Amino acid sequence: MEIILLGPPGAGKGTQAALLEDAYGMVQLSTGDMLRAAVKAGTEVGLKAKAVMDAGGLVSDEIVSGIIGDRLDELGPDTGVIFDGYPRTAPQAEALDAILAARGRKLDHVIELEVDEDALVDRITGRYTCAACNAGYHDRYKQPAKEGVCDECGGSEFKRRPDDNEETVRTRMAEYRGKTAPILPIYDARGIVTRVDGMAAIDDVTAAIKAVLG
Ligand code: AP5
Repeated sequence: MEIILLGPPGAGKGTQAALLEDAYGMVQLSTGDMLRAAVKAGTEVGLKAKAVMDAGGLVSDEIVSGIIGDRLDELGPDTGVIFDGYPRTAPQAEALDAILAARGRKLDHVIELEVDEDALVDRITGRYTCAACNAGYHDRYKQPAKEGVCDECGGSEFKRRPDDNEETVRTRMAEYRGKTAPILPIYDARGIVTRVDGMAAIDDVTAAIKAVLG
């Protein structure tokens, strides 16, 4: 099964993808995570992507479609994939069709997480993660049980994404409205889009997605 999780920054794509990975044995392919790893490793892709990401813009279609194709080739043909943050533009949607067809795969579902943009700014600007295990926290909604100590691994270092400030988040949202939301009709025309209330509690969102996937 191949699915796309679509929604603006902070809609909960990464949160839901991680939960669905566990439930269905699928693999999450997050272009955001892959690009951040490339930035950290100082690769050529990372060097090209960093300034664009920090400003809230979109990295070039060729780069992201290239890394998606490469990553799919590393997976066995029977491993289902959750696309998180890809495709984000019409050329990326077109590239994904070609990438999947070349590997004997096809899209089964597109899940759009519908959310309120003002709430998203609050979600994103307050979030932080454990530097060691990446467990997610939020200034107001989810703090570690013991202050300054990660619940999951006991680590004491935490980090915030450089693009999680309000100004950049607003730019990312504008990119979503202008370039990503317009690709939905492509999938609507195929009858594979389901809209899910992304403002519901995390478990309820997961349950709604599971009801679609079966
Ligand atoms: P990317 O990493 O994909 O960021 P994003 O799309 O902006 O999405 P986020 O990771 O911020 O949010 P999310 O929807 O995953 O929400 P999350 O689950 O974390 O991309 C970053 C950058 O990389 C882009 O700006 C671009 O530059 C570049 N890039 C990436 N892909 C690209 C592509 N294809 N093409 C070109 N450039 C690309 O949740 C957010 C917070 O909310 C968390 O704290 C979470 O705990 C909380 N939360 C989640 N769900 C709920 C809920 N239901 N109720 C309450 N809180 C919730």
